[in-house]
Amino acid sequence: MRKKEILLSPSLLSCDFARAGEQLKELERLGVKWLHLDVMDGAFVPNISFGIPVIKSIRNSTALFFDTHLMIDAPERYIKQFASAGSDCITFHIEATSDPSAVLDMIHAEGKLAGISVKPATPVQSVYPLLEKCDLALVMSVEPGFGGQSYMDPATEKIRLLKNHIKRKGYKTLVSVDGGIDVKTAPVAAGAGADVLVAGSAVFGKGDIETAVENLRAAVKGLV
Ligand code: DX5
Ligand code: ZN
Repeated sequence: MRKKEILLSPSLLSCDFARAGEQLKELERLGVKWLHLDVMDGAFVPNISFGIPVIKSIRNSTALFFDTHLMIDAPERYIKQFASAGSDCITFHIEATSDPSAVLDMIHAEGKLAGISVKPATPVQSVYPLLEKCDLALVMSVEPGFGGQSYMDPATEKIRLLKNHIKRKGYKTLVSVDGGIDVKTAPVAAGAGADVLVAGSAVFGKGDIETAVENLRAAVKGLV
């Protein structure tokens, strides 16, 4: 049986921004397909990253699939803008809005894939009623806000529960995991059922992107 594909989604947050275009070309050359874009507003999370103009600008320099992760309050205010900036999938936090179902509809109305995310303290069961509408469900394995933190072990069980529930219901939702993914934790998360592995420091933090990607691929069979 052919091993299923697991997607590596390198997080732009950890790239060298002065050389971002070059680093994205390198990822493409290595056969990476996704790019994770961490948007932080200084309110939902205690940090500010980048927003619409940066996504628009890098959209012109790469064909990578844009996996946008909105860590912002009331994401419904900005769905249109993040869609037209070039996102392919837009993921927001269930904790950030009073009507997550409506936000999923807004994203789909823009013709994009829609994802929902849970912080470490939020039970994964909270997204179950929404999964039928979700193309992706993202389990945070660190407190959102900063790259370079350590993987929180309880995320593994959340991934397992989520994946089993999705299978039982026959949904197509991809399970993604974000935070502290490296050569040690990537196989754990993938083994629990993650389809997408987000990695910032493990890809960009070592200086040599090619070796970093090779090491992750050696740790997880089927990682692209
Ligand atoms: C955290 C972000 C993550 C982060 C991952 O708020 O959502 O995407 O950049 O970085 P690493 O892989 O360094 O934990
Ligand atoms: Zn993220």
